[in-house]
Amino acid sequence: MTQRIAVLPGDGIGPEIVEQAVRVLRALDLDLEFVSAPVGGAAYDLHGHPLPPESLALAKHASAVLFGAVGDWKYDTLERALRPEQAVLGLRRELGLFANLRPAILYPELAKASSLKPEIVAGLDILIVRELTGDIYFGQPRGVRVLEDGPFKGEREGFDTMRYAETEVRRIAHVAFQAAQKRRGQLCSVDKANVLETSQFWRNIVIDVAQEYPEVELSHMYVDNAAMQLVREPKAFDVIVTGNLFGDILSDEAAMLTGSIGMLPSASLNGSNQGLYEPSHGSAPDIAGKNIANPLATILSAAMMLRYSLGAPVQALQVEAAVQQVLADGLRTADLYEAGTTQVSTSEMGDAVLKVLK
Ligand code: IPM
Ligand code: MG
Repeated sequence: MTQRIAVLPGDGIGPEIVEQAVRVLRALDLDLEFVSAPVGGAAYDLHGHPLPPESLALAKHASAVLFGAVGDWKYDTLERALRPEQAVLGLRRELGLFANLRPAILYPELAKASSLKPEIVAGLDILIVRELTGDIYFGQPRGVRVLEDGPFKGEREGFDTMRYAETEVRRIAHVAFQAAQKRRGQLCSVDKANVLETSQFWRNIVIDVAQEYPEVELSHMYVDNAAMQLVREPKAFDVIVTGNLFGDILSDEAAMLTGSIGMLPSASLNGSNQGLYEPSHGSAPDIAGKNIANPLATILSAAMMLRYSLGAPVQALQVEAAVQQVLADGLRTADLYEAGTTQVSTSEMGDAVLKVLK
């Protein structure tokens, strides 16, 4: 049966990096079809909305979504509902993509790219499991209101709601425990239970779910301490599970530990193997259209798609091995270039991965 991939390239470097990932997927011996649609600023320019109904419908009915990146400074003055970021938030909400997997792996060839000492990061391999459809990101009510009493009576205040329903915590905890089972068996749940009710609730539920995974070693850490430990001794972590807001912040920090955010893929999954796959980096409008962006994070995101949504784990490994091989061969896009390596363009990097695959 043909599996349909919704291709949503978005803005900035999105189109050029997604093109390379599509080439890689097409080169595999799988029955796939690719249908593209605009999202983000590109969709706003064409249709007046960052997530037009046609693009959303395409994504909803596809086996998987290959997403580039969205955003450009020129949309910063638009009202929130029309900004490019609403495309990714809308897709997460509408497809129920509650589980965000963000691996941070330091490839041995790239150890020097990190701003941390090589001995701190060499061999780093951590997985952040970020809850993606709850928390203060989507909590209601939110807005601006006039205060009716208290010391600031009569003033306006901005407010959002941090919240988690039990089911939301349970299902992300299961994803994280199962990921830890397949890795080194350690799970660290990150919260702010010393201050926040939502976090204390989160912690209690995670402890409850842990009973089903006695072989996984569970620990808990406050988010401020976790931010510190991630730069102090990042290799002490295996899997981290956390809520939407803390996960947003910690996953950027973890990505930077590797020094090569251009290499890091991500997957956002719902309960029925449907997923959205995107590089962890942004749209980089400053280098868009120059054929210099690193396509490897998107190609590695396609590998995650093969594994989690397309039932093709062997091909996933092949793609990951091909990426390792081009790095070992010394090929680097501009972001990772250093003396003694060979600088290649976006499309040449795609060519090289394809050549290894064939
Ligand atoms: C991310 C991004 C998004 C988020 C933005 C673009 C809405 O920072 O995927 O981490 O905050 O989740
Ligand atoms: Mg982020």
